[in-house]
Amino acid sequence: MKQRENFGSKLGIIMATAGSALGLGNIYRFPCEAGANGGGAFLIVYLIVALLMGTTLMVAEFIIGRRSHSNPIGAFRVLEGKKNGWMSIGWLGVVCAFLVLAFYTTVAGWTLGYLGKSVANHFEGQDLGQIQGQFVSFTNHPWLPIVCQLIFLALTAVVVARGIKDGIEKWSKILMPMLLVIMVVLCVKSLTLNGAADGLRFFFTPDFSKINGKVLISALGQSFFSLSIGMGALITYGSYIGSKDNMLSSSTSVVFADTLVAVLAGVIIFPAAFTFGVQPEAGASLAFTTLPMVFQQMTGGYFFCLIFFLLLVIATLTSTISLLEVIVATTTEELHISRPKAAILGSLTTAVIGVLATLSFREGSPLHLNGQTVFDMLDHITALYLMPIGGLMIVLFVGWRMKKADTLDELTNGGTLRAGIRKVVYYLIRYVAPVAIVVIFISQLVK
Ligand code: TRP
Repeated sequence: MKQRENFGSKLGIIMATAGSALGLGNIYRFPCEAGANGGGAFLIVYLIVALLMGTTLMVAEFIIGRRSHSNPIGAFRVLEGKKNGWMSIGWLGVVCAFLVLAFYTTVAGWTLGYLGKSVANHFEGQDLGQIQGQFVSFTNHPWLPIVCQLIFLALTAVVVARGIKDGIEKWSKILMPMLLVIMVVLCVKSLTLNGAADGLRFFFTPDFSKINGKVLISALGQSFFSLSIGMGALITYGSYIGSKDNMLSSSTSVVFADTLVAVLAGVIIFPAAFTFGVQPEAGASLAFTTLPMVFQQMTGGYFFCLIFFLLLVIATLTSTISLLEVIVATTTEELHISRPKAAILGSLTTAVIGVLATLSFREGSPLHLNGQTVFDMLDHITALYLMPIGGLMIVLFVGWRMKKADTLDELTNGGTLRAGIRKVVYYLIRYVAPVAIVVIFISQLVK
């Protein structure tokens, strides 16, 4: 077998996986979903689903990746022999990666635009109306959001073309902890605002009567999206994990960190929203209006705003890297084209769909289907359908198709790690995860 690169260290895997997980999913999409689904009702479901199912699925993907040392399509060839139905998991994942990357880079472009705005000090002294106006005029600008999106894609392609180790690992290790620090600072500020109590009540009061099928599937989709699971991204990362690494503890750390950052984002954004009078259901504009408002109220706000958007751009970049990596790892190994070529081809194809998503965001844009923008449509198809389906197939493969001995062998590193808790994980993969995904999936169909 061809020698593949491995991550340099245990910290390298955790940081690279956290780099993939942490991103717009936590800071932009999570508050959006929580706001739209009743705040506390969403949070409680999300916490259960992310901690329990998230860890389970992450481990399952790592098992496939490390056992096969291959991309999400090749993995099933290695484990199952030539042509077989399981390879469709890989194809589904690659398609999903394209679609996610397409609309993800729309918002990624906004973060770049907002970095520019922070440099130019566009937020100082502005009231809520003006800051909301800035969001509308930026997203409706004839070319700016597209240029930002394309620059972002190009940056991603450059990093991916250079290969896994020096590209992904080096960056994540330094910058992710910095993002966490700045979020804690923001959090402290947000908690001193007038509306803090109302915001926290909205976010932390679990109103069980509000939990319905839509809340369940939204929380499931959000946890898959936020943890980068259900589409083979982590099969690819798992393939770079060395034989001695403790995959369960790495996964737990990543899930914990990812959930922490999402909750922090909520603790920053909801108190701010209630203070300044932004609707928690404001959707896409929520983070991009509340955050500048908070910075404006801070001593040294200019500086914090700048650093924050810089780190957000980088957190987003480590996520787009992992998405493009799925496409590139697959095309280089399956179609035997070079890494740089695959990176260029992959990003160009994404650009075509991505620009449509960005254009669809404009007021009066004709790019609507069924009353949804192309942007929302891509988001819903991937998070509410493709990822849960991919995740289901992954746990079915690891729990039912792989030999129990092989799965446990991976989980315990050939018997060198304690089996107790890892047997529990095996049963979570085999029974709990598939049943939960199917139940949640069906619950949204019955109104
Ligand atoms: N998890 C990332 C976020 O929260 C987005 C992401 C990166 C992703 N890679 C992925 C989502 C793979 C699904 C699959 O921002």
